[in-house]
Amino acid sequence: MVSFGLVILCITFLINPILCYIPESRIGHSGLVIQNTLLLFGGWKYSSNLTKKYTDEIFYLNLTQQFDVANPSWELVLGGNLPLSISFSASFVSTFDDNLIYVIGGYMSNITTGEYDYSNLAYMYNYSLRKWTALTVMNITPRQEMMGIIDDKGIAYIFGGYNITNDTTYEGVYYNDMRIFNASSMELSPLSITQNLPSPFSSYTANLLKNGIIVYIGGLEDSHERYPNLPYKVLGLETLRLFDTIKAEWSSMNVTGGDNIDPRFWHSSVLNTKGEIILFGGCTTNFSRINTKFAILNTNKDIYEWTTPSISDSPPLLYGHNANLHGNYMIITFGVNLDNLEMSTQIYLFDVNQYTWVTTYTPPPVPPKNDTSKKSSKVLIGIAVGVGGGIVLVILVSIGVGVLLSKRRNKRRKSRSKKHILEIPSSSSI
Ligand SMILES: *[C@@H]1O[C@H](CO)[C@@H](O)[C@H](O)[C@H]1NC(C)=O
Ligand SMILES: *[C@@H]1O[C@H](CO)[C@@H](O)[C@H](O)[C@H]1NC(C)=O
Ligand SMILES: *[C@@H]1O[C@H](CO)[C@@H](O)[C@H](O)[C@H]1NC(C)=O
Ligand SMILES: *[C@@H]1O[C@H](CO)[C@@H](O)[C@H](O)[C@H]1NC(C)=O
Ligand SMILES: *[C@@H]1O[C@H](CO)[C@@H](O)[C@H](O)[C@H]1NC(C)=O
Ligand SMILES: *[C@@H]1O[C@H](CO)[C@@H](O)[C@H](O)[C@H]1NC(C)=O
Ligand SMILES: *[C@@H]1O[C@H](CO)[C@@H](O)[C@H](O)[C@H]1NC(C)=O
Ligand SMILES: *[C@@H]1O[C@H](CO)[C@@H](O)[C@H](O)[C@H]1NC(C)=O
Ligand SMILES: *[C@@H]1O[C@H](CO)[C@@H](O)[C@H](O)[C@H]1NC(C)=O
Ligand SMILES: *[C@@H]1O[C@H](CO)[C@@H](O)[C@H](O)[C@H]1NC(C)=O
Repeated sequence: MVSFGLVILCITFLINPILCYIPESRIGHSGLVIQNTLLLFGGWKYSSNLTKKYTDEIFYLNLTQQFDVANPSWELVLGGNLPLSISFSASFVSTFDDNLIYVIGGYMSNITTGEYDYSNLAYMYNYSLRKWTALTVMNITPRQEMMGIIDDKGIAYIFGGYNITNDTTYEGVYYNDMRIFNASSMELSPLSITQNLPSPFSSYTANLLKNGIIVYIGGLEDSHERYPNLPYKVLGLETLRLFDTIKAEWSSMNVTGGDNIDPRFWHSSVLNTKGEIILFGGCTTNFSRINTKFAILNTNKDIYEWTTPSISDSPPLLYGHNANLHGNYMIITFGVNLDNLEMSTQIYLFDVNQYTWVTTYTPPPVPPKNDTSKKSSKVLIGIAVGVGGGIVLVILVSIGVGVLLSKRRNKRRKSRSKKHILEIPSSSSI
């Protein structure tokens, strides 16, 4: 459903001159914060008859602008679409160059035919050039449903995952190797660890603590059979698998409070600056509901501790969504809404310091720039547009547009009527 406010917003952006975009719902997409934008790409969407659709577009939210979850101003990246459809991949931003994204593995399909295409398994995206490059990575093999956690030395840790072998039955093989991706040498090397190896699993989340320990949460455990009418195991949250990136060692921890939290996969988690992991959503066997949709893991204790605070205004239960931390916000995007069994394009915001669900994103303060006055007037309009919704928005837009027009054309504003606003795109030369 597209609100009138959003339409007006888009029209305003046409003269601004940013492209406004209404994305389709999806699951298994990648979401990365890069250069103050939340960039989303990939994932599966379903048409109304539940046929899987393959996506190649890239779009983003500008995280320097305020927005309301009811009217996020998505912007489409023109050009530079994905070379093929990629879902459930390990993707991460380079530590050394905040302009580069690496995408390793995932379900890879030809956009037009939908056929799996594993002829190349790693890609690099140059953000400013909007260009994808196929990478030749030594030792890479087809894998899906794993995460890549990059550290401050530029090494990405990619644990286990799944290799689908039959795209009809979804049968495949789970792995328990820890592989490290070194972008300088273009190598994906398995670490030779024999002690305390976890059982093979995929579809987990992973968060790297300040002390170098990666905490793995949930997922699907080793089984050749994982889909309906075939038994498989969804991992519980009472025993967590931990990987120490400094010692290259595995361990497990029986954490406090984990018995109360349902096992899950296709959930999300983010780490806040206080050392707490915020867990949201996911599903269990047969993609069915779980009871505890939200929990917090305190990793500051010797034995980590789960708590399940009940917080009002919580979103519906989602799976296959994505979550990113930026500033104070856990930004949750899309996925399947298990309350109505529909795929969603909704955003939810959790304030990780105030522990509240909020509806307005306020950008973190930025140091003032030494910009020209012309540019700063544009910024003001952008913020004004972002604040409101519905009728309030229309009024703000008309004021904003008026200011812009009078500034640019040095003409007297005649009217603030809706009709007048709607004429603007065609009369604008930008
Ligand atoms: C579903 O719809 C798509 C077009 O949206 C069509 O190509 C496809 O054949 C349909 N599939 C079935 C099973 O009806
Ligand atoms: C996808 O399949 C079509 C039809 O077979 C082919 O023409 C196209 O080159 C393929 N795309 C890629 C990126 O391989
Ligand atoms: C990415 O593009 C920029 C130009 O915008 C270029 O300077 C840089 O070298 C490119 N990076 C890589 C790794 O290709
Ligand atoms: C992964 O699965 C494909 C079939 O989809 C198979 O050809 C390939 O050998 C498998 N790779 C590994 C490393 O098991
Ligand atoms: C996948 O599974 C189906 C159903 O069991 C079987 O008919 C088909 O041959 C399998 N395909 C492959 C590539 O093994
Ligand atoms: C990554 O590769 C580069 C180039 O081969 C090498 O100098 C560096 O030591 C490697 N980093 C690690 C952590 O292995
Ligand atoms: C999952 O679905 C299958 C087929 O519908 C059913 O046989 C099985 O009992 C279900 N498993 C659970 C745990 O609900
Ligand atoms: C966790 O608890 C289980 C039994 O509940 C026990 O078998 C296992 O050894 C414990 N693991 C650790 C690391 O303490
Ligand atoms: C902004 O101005 C300050 C002081 O006038 C100067 O030190 C700084 O280099 C300027 N920054 C940029 C990005 O121009
Ligand atoms: C985000 O918004 C700021 C302020 O309006 C603007 O300067 C910047 O170019 C925008 N970034 C992108 C990627 O659109």
